[in-house]
Amino acid sequence: MPTTIVVGTQWGDEGKGKFTDLLAKEMSMVVRYQGGHNAGHTLVVDGEVFALQLVPSGVLYDHIVPVIGNGVVVDPFVLLAEMDMLSRRGIDTGRLRLSGNAHLILNYHQQLDALHERHLGKSKLGTTKRGIGPAYADKSLRIGVRVQDLLDEMIFREKLRAALSHTNKVLTKVYNRLPVDPDMLADKVLSECLEPLKPHIVDTTDLIHDALEADQHVLLEGAQATFLDLDHGTYPFVTSSNPTAGGACTGAGIGPRHVDRVLGVAKSYVTRVGAGPFPTELTDSDGDKIVDIGREYGTNTGRRRRPGWFDTVMLRHAVRVNSLTELAITKLDVLDSFERLRLCVAYDIEGERTEKLPYHQSELHRAVPIYEDLPGWQTDLTEVTEQGQLPEEAHGYLRAIEAQVGVPVKLVSTGPGRSQYVHYS
Ligand code: GDP
Ligand code: IMO
Ligand code: MG
Repeated sequence: MPTTIVVGTQWGDEGKGKFTDLLAKEMSMVVRYQGGHNAGHTLVVDGEVFALQLVPSGVLYDHIVPVIGNGVVVDPFVLLAEMDMLSRRGIDTGRLRLSGNAHLILNYHQQLDALHERHLGKSKLGTTKRGIGPAYADKSLRIGVRVQDLLDEMIFREKLRAALSHTNKVLTKVYNRLPVDPDMLADKVLSECLEPLKPHIVDTTDLIHDALEADQHVLLEGAQATFLDLDHGTYPFVTSSNPTAGGACTGAGIGPRHVDRVLGVAKSYVTRVGAGPFPTELTDSDGDKIVDIGREYGTNTGRRRRPGWFDTVMLRHAVRVNSLTELAITKLDVLDSFERLRLCVAYDIEGERTEKLPYHQSELHRAVPIYEDLPGWQTDLTEVTEQGQLPEEAHGYLRAIEAQVGVPVKLVSTGPGRSQYVHYS
């Protein structure tokens, strides 16, 4: 019955992993519904850091069934390496379930991703080069190879040959590269991945529905975020899946009727990795300070994240696109030492004030943020675990966000650790 979606409201890295882990305590199942190992979700438990890419963030709890849903694209080697890393650290991954309908990312997808980016030159997107776009492109072209294909050697080899008869033409004739031998690749994947993955491969849609029918709580964990969404993001500077709440239904195989809670995670400022428009971007010392204090370097690729002030125009849009019921604001502690905080409440587009995200993307490129300035609290929040301990200025900042977007803040994070958060009302 009750299903919660955790969705990023900005350009990723909002702290979805931390809140998924936190909420998982009260859930039975955590499902990743889209994306692949372009995601990097960091959990800090008793000072120990876990950086997850494919395995759902609930995995650290013994009672959780972690599920990789049909909407995810899976590099089987990366998944096995991650499961191995977790096992070596004492985490049982035996309960992990992997959808037979999920598509595989194979070496040629990663090669194509890098080649596309090189081909784009200055106009490159700044992808994670994990093969995400090419794998979803093959899925749409209907030449993708699925997890379930691994279970039938003949089918797997046939599908790989069919996919590569197309892709090898692109590799050799467009990019002047060597072709990939489908049989050699099949040998490698089957010999190294089939046996260890086989016990985990199931019909996850069936599994999720069984859990829902048994009145268990299911959490759908988003990767990436609203403005990286293929349909709703800042196209083409987006990822190739649908991180928004609608994508959660498709990527897990449930209808919207089952969803009763959509938690939008927003960082108390904004960051973005890779290229694309970013109205509140900071290229000054305030930006450097946010990056330094917030350690804004990619979990996955190590790239410096671009920093900016909090943007309520974007968040208002994210509220609508995802039907957000509540907000979690993360990394409030990163703003501890700022004297003045800026909240973008509207954009000025060629002399016209708008509180809505412009429909035409070229306007977003020209949007100049209109700020409301608020006083900082200049107090260490990292020990704060109760609402009453938050200084007046922090309430002022959170209440201003709520007032701008019309959705209540229910959780506030004050540090990376599992216990560093506040229930807010
Ligand atoms: P995700 O991709 O949305 O799961 O976010 P990431 O894990 O990529 O990035 C969030 C980073 O911020 C991680 O390193 C977290 O450990 C860290 N983090 C999460 N919440 C807080 C917080 O409230 N304060 C601080 N200082 N760090 C946080
Ligand atoms: P999490 O789940 C931040 C960005 C890349 C690039 C664009 C397309 O940790 O929030 P892709 O490799 O997906 O084709 O790259 O999307 N991107 C992310 N940025 N956090 C992520 O995931 C991201 N996953 C992809 O930087 O701009
Ligand atoms: Mg991340």
